[in-house]
Amino acid sequence: MMATGHNEPVLSVRDLAISFKTEQGERILLRDASFEVKRGEVLGIVGESGSGKSITALSLMGLLPVSGRVSHGEAWFEGQDLFTLSPRQLDRIRGKRIAMIFQDALTSLNPVFTIGNQIVEGIRAHQDISKAQATQQAAQLLSRVGMADPDNVLGQYAHMLSGGMRQRAMIAMALASEPALIIADEATSSLDVTIQAQIMHLLRELSLERDMSVLLITHDIGLIAQMADKVIVMYAGEIVENTDVFTLFEAPGHPYTRALLETVPSIEDDKDRELQAIPGVVPEDYDAISGCRFAGRCAYVEPKCRESRQIMLPLDKCRQVRCIRAQNNELEFVHSTQCEASKIALARRKQEAKAKLSERLRT
Ligand SMILES: Nc1ncnc2c1ncn2[C@@H]1O[C@H](COP(=O)(O)OP(=O)(O)OP(=O)(O)O)[C@@H](O)[C@H]1O
Ligand code: SF4
Ligand SMILES: [Mg+2]
Repeated sequence: MMATGHNEPVLSVRDLAISFKTEQGERILLRDASFEVKRGEVLGIVGESGSGKSITALSLMGLLPVSGRVSHGEAWFEGQDLFTLSPRQLDRIRGKRIAMIFQDALTSLNPVFTIGNQIVEGIRAHQDISKAQATQQAAQLLSRVGMADPDNVLGQYAHMLSGGMRQRAMIAMALASEPALIIADEATSSLDVTIQAQIMHLLRELSLERDMSVLLITHDIGLIAQMADKVIVMYAGEIVENTDVFTLFEAPGHPYTRALLETVPSIEDDKDRELQAIPGVVPEDYDAISGCRFAGRCAYVEPKCRESRQIMLPLDKCRQVRCIRAQNNELEFVHSTQCEASKIALARRKQEAKAKLSERLRT
């Protein structure tokens, strides 16, 4: 295990491309994806359905379907490129140093073992302690994730718990191996809104408490606002914007990000925070488009946008976008931003949340 400082990335993905064998032949469904997650940081990945969020996450865990493959790129985690590891080496990382929490907890909790058995096994896989000690730790973990009667839950099976409780048990199980990174792909979207908020709040707290990094994949831009430190916005198999959460909301640099923000319901009609539709749909054959992939839906399109492939370039110290017009400073909505101020606001928000959390845990 390799210790990382706060400014060191826990995960560093460079030039990732993913291809799939389809009836139309091999298609590159994700390309040119580079991003980093630092220690203790929550990186949100947002974008409409089909933009490539899940295949990105699955590729890191070596879990792409057989028709898919990483055709290019590197993913550095604790000193190793995940894409070069053998299945056996990856097994030592997956579910241990990198844990994944899924939408349906039933897929990751084993139905024939008690919750206690599964957590104890996770704890003993990396700590040389007795079963009794591990059971005690398992009860503490269950209590930490908000189980009112942890000793009882230890002896229960997954099907005996409610959806929200199962999700909590799955998080406890993920924590048992003390992961450096948790990947949560739409992890709570099947739960009702109140439980969703509680689970997300819990995840945020655990990340602060344990300096754990989180890759948070969601459609819900409201969730991104509350949870994420940094954000990548994906569209049609490409990252189109990479920035911090304050800059994203105050000074989006890409027309797609701007369109996404316009779909967020106001606080008054806050019942459903799922994205409302942006006019038009993500083109299905996006890998065949030679110019900007958003051109068909973009309010700012010009002929030159369709002429060549768009590349990610920095607008300033805190924004990178894939849009020639933003890069040429031709879009009136893209205003300059104080990157330093966002950095300070981010650090302050984190400090305040940490102080609040330690106060709460003390009482
Ligand atoms: N097994 C597969 N075979 C072929 N194409 C696939 C396969 N799985 C995903 N894709 C394609 O890869 C692209 C990205 O899919 P992905 O599941 O990553 O999207 P997503 O952003 O996670 O969407 P959602 O928000 O709906 O979960 C889509 O075009 C999708 O159709
Ligand atoms: S390159 Fe052109 S079409 Fe694409 S997002 Fe920018 S302005 Fe819109
Ligand atoms: Mg998905």
